[in-house]
Amino acid sequence: MGRRLKIVGLGLIAVLALLQFFQPERNNAPIDPELDMLEVIAAQEPMASLIRSACYDCHSNQTIYPWYSRISPFSWYLNKHIVKGKEDLNFSDYSLLDKADKIGAFADFCDALDAGTMPLQSYMLIHKDARLTLEERESLCNWSETQALKVMRE
Ligand code: HEC
Repeated sequence: MGRRLKIVGLGLIAVLALLQFFQPERNNAPIDPELDMLEVIAAQEPMASLIRSACYDCHSNQTIYPWYSRISPFSWYLNKHIVKGKEDLNFSDYSLLDKADKIGAFADFCDALDAGTMPLQSYMLIHKDARLTLEERESLCNWSETQALKVMRE
């Protein structure tokens, strides 16, 4: 290896090593059974598990972090999805929504599954259990419409 290449290589390693000191705050608060959507509505199986494994990493306060999520800059990439996902929809704060927003959340939930926009493609590449089948998408969509109707009647 040429001398210059060696210096560039060592420089890169040093930068990557330094980056490891800069990590986003981790998103893993304990579940609050008073606020969490799956808890509050006592969601039945298999819906609860499907939603937990396909959506909760970005739409709740309980992300399950894979090992590479500790490595900067990946950690920042994942964190951006978590922050943006929670901004739109945070199931951990479900009880804080008013009636209209709860209904809206269940309607959007169905739309995202129907349109296939969620879970994010980059997420499904790595999380095999989040690759929902067409049947799973349909049943989750029906389920969320039922939930929206229930909230309407409350
Ligand atoms: C890897 C992170 C991630 C996962 C997993 C994920 N989402 Fe999202 N979600 C996002 C982000 C980021 C946004 C913000 C909008 C955007 O950037 O597309 C979002 C936005 C949304 C929205 C708002 C409206 C829209 O469609 O843009 C809904 C509804 C939604 N997600 C539903 C779901 C559902 C249902 C699941 C599980 C089946 C899911 N998401 C899984 C990251 C994720």
